Amino acid sequence: MQRENWTSKLGFILAASGSAIGLGNIWRFPFVAGTNGGAIFLFIYLVAIIFIGYPVLISEMTIGRKTERNPVGAFKKLAPDTPWWLVGALGVIAGFVILSYYSVVAGWGLFYMLESVTGLAPGTDFADLFVGHISSTYSPLFWHFVFMFLTVSVIGAGVVNGIQRVVKVLMPILFVLLVVLIFRSLTLEGAGAGLEFYLSPDFSQISLQTFNDAISQAFFTLSLGMGAMITYGSYLSQDESITDSAGYVLGFDTGIAVLSGFAIFPAVFAFGLDPAAGPGLTFITLPAVFSQMPLGGFFGFLFFALLSIAALTSAISLLEVVVAYLVDEFEYPRKKTSYIIGFIIFLVGIPPLLGYSALSDFSFLGMDVLDTYDWIANFILLPTGGMLTAIFIGHYWGTDKAVEEANRNSMKVKVGNIYSLLIKYVVPVAIFVIMALTIYQTVTG
Ligand code: PHE
Ligand code: NA
Repeated sequence: MQRENWTSKLGFILAASGSAIGLGNIWRFPFVAGTNGGAIFLFIYLVAIIFIGYPVLISEMTIGRKTERNPVGAFKKLAPDTPWWLVGALGVIAGFVILSYYSVVAGWGLFYMLESVTGLAPGTDFADLFVGHISSTYSPLFWHFVFMFLTVSVIGAGVVNGIQRVVKVLMPILFVLLVVLIFRSLTLEGAGAGLEFYLSPDFSQISLQTFNDAISQAFFTLSLGMGAMITYGSYLSQDESITDSAGYVLGFDTGIAVLSGFAIFPAVFAFGLDPAAGPGLTFITLPAVFSQMPLGGFFGFLFFALLSIAALTSAISLLEVVVAYLVDEFEYPRKKTSYIIGFIIFLVGIPPLLGYSALSDFSFLGMDVLDTYDWIANFILLPTGGMLTAIFIGHYWGTDKAVEEANRNSMKVKVGNIYSLLIKYVVPVAIFVIMALTIYQTVTG
């Protein structure tokens, strides 16, 4: 069977941006920035995006387009009879782990979307509401199932009829929703303190944790280190340019993350709430904000619709990595495979889901099950995958070949020596040093 291609460059840019823009931008970025001092995190995060994220993004898309394979097949094709394919396999495993808890969080978003219509009354205790929801069993399970079902339906329909069709509708809606929310947030009285927190860096707040969180967030947000961009790149027509498209994806993803900070921090400060609330920022602090503003239910609905849409267009890329692997390598039928794998991932998501009630005694380095999944994915799997991909290109396949392939058909942007230098030395060394220091700190601290 002929392998599918995106029908246009725009189709590819939207799909890859849809993968990139997700819970990472709207849920994770603001809360990680909030717990790391705001502006200073934003600064280090941008450095990580440019010097680590960008070269790895180009590399993954290049490997994909060159080989026209899923991550495992791609490494097998470029490095036959070597163990390099294990890097791809690590990515497929990461796809399972990430999607399973990603869908649980996205399910909370769906719940809050409906809750906004009826339940964000002033005076509600939103911490109680949130904890009550996540530590119950059936409601989160139901929404997790609904979200996985939506994801599976898109992937089952195929690359063009599923993924591309859905992102073309949803990505513009997402953008409009965000603009409305930013306008609302910035026009609240007292918004200035939020801007100050977000934009004026306090350098005394830098620690190893800041770098660690910034690098992990850079990988997660750009969908790197697990082969999603290899897979999406593999559907890019040979006539299109990688470097021209990658810039848009990087720009959109970074733009949306920065913008969601503008939607969230001014509002949080305007109501005198804590920006360092952690993962609850989206689900406790923001509902409290909405409950206090005029038409809050409406804006709450818009916000959680935005979150759910962003999550869906990312979840499909996570599932696509696993499905593409099984379809390419074993010639399994696409639709059936999507449903079966989707169901298995639904099951893998049950421990983090029950982690707040039935498994509430569970603790790993002081984290609950969902945080543990997130930690394994973001601090171990993605940076390791990214580091190995950089080493593969820099020291096995060769940056000359990568540069030539990445620049093919490029009209605007071309990469060269700086890219090569970053991939060969900067990316692997930076990741290695920061991981080693963190492990050292965890063990000794
Ligand atoms: N980039 C997505 C986000 O920011 C998450 C993701 C990670 C998607 C890895 C695919 C692969 O939410
Ligand atoms: Na993202």
